[in-house]
Amino acid sequence: MNHTSGNSNSTDNLIDRAALLLGTVNSVFVLTGAGVSAESGIPTFRGADGLWKNYSAQELATPQAFQKDPVLVWEWYHWRQDLILKASPNAAHYALSAFESIFEHFLLLTQNVDNMHRRAGSQRVLELHGNIFRARCCECDRKTEYTGIQGVSNDLPRCVCGGLLRPDVVWFGEAIPEYIWQDSLDFLSGTAVAMICGTSGVVWPAAAIPRIAMEQGVKTIEINLEPTPISNAVDVSIRAKADVALPLLVRKITDRPTSKIS
Ligand code: OAD
Repeated sequence: MNHTSGNSNSTDNLIDRAALLLGTVNSVFVLTGAGVSAESGIPTFRGADGLWKNYSAQELATPQAFQKDPVLVWEWYHWRQDLILKASPNAAHYALSAFESIFEHFLLLTQNVDNMHRRAGSQRVLELHGNIFRARCCECDRKTEYTGIQGVSNDLPRCVCGGLLRPDVVWFGEAIPEYIWQDSLDFLSGTAVAMICGTSGVVWPAAAIPRIAMEQGVKTIEINLEPTPISNAVDVSIRAKADVALPLLVRKITDRPTSKIS
């Protein structure tokens, strides 16, 4: 069954339905994407002003691009770091951090590399695509916290071992960290509700999460401004901004006295 609408009244109804689903469970899985950070002023990837509309993923976000021109790639990542550091978490991030105290079992899997969930206080977060404020040595694989200063020099960042550092993010053509994927699937298989927020759902393997959830009988809720490939298949599809819908959801769940089942 799916429920979608553009007008605010039925959006309210859909949020009520989602709150009803969430109000009776104690285990929730959430997948987030760039839409959750949009209201913070961090560009998404595929929207009208999305990063991949203005920049070439092939020239900036592949291992080949880094091999060919590491200065260019680092410049782009420094620019993004700068932009993200000037931004603040929004109400969607804070609402998801509140989920941790509402649900006994909770896991947030994010495709975002912007660290915003942690800045908003989330602790039970797995970062599927890495973290833009971490670098990794191309030689010894050592990971280190790293924030560059945009435009200061063309010097490439180096590891203590002397090796070249690269952003610790997953580029196109690269594998995602296996343990993160496995932990996510393990959690998903025992959870009651999966919520998918602010992702276009076209990048794999994250795009598989909603289907995997449905196949296991997990109830699914989507929050997105636009329709996506899963909108017609989820149990509740809410067409709204994440920073509006999520705080409303938190309020509705916490206002209603319920008896929880796992
Ligand atoms: P996309 O840019 O592909 O999709 C963002 C989604 O958020 C779209 O479906 C929008 O409709 C929705 N959206 C925009 N603003 C919103 C808002 N305020 N509230 C709710 N939804 C909103 O971003 P992702 O799906 O996250 O990977 O992209 C997945 C991956 O593709 C990224 O992690 C990145 C990219 O290439 C790598 O770089 C490896």
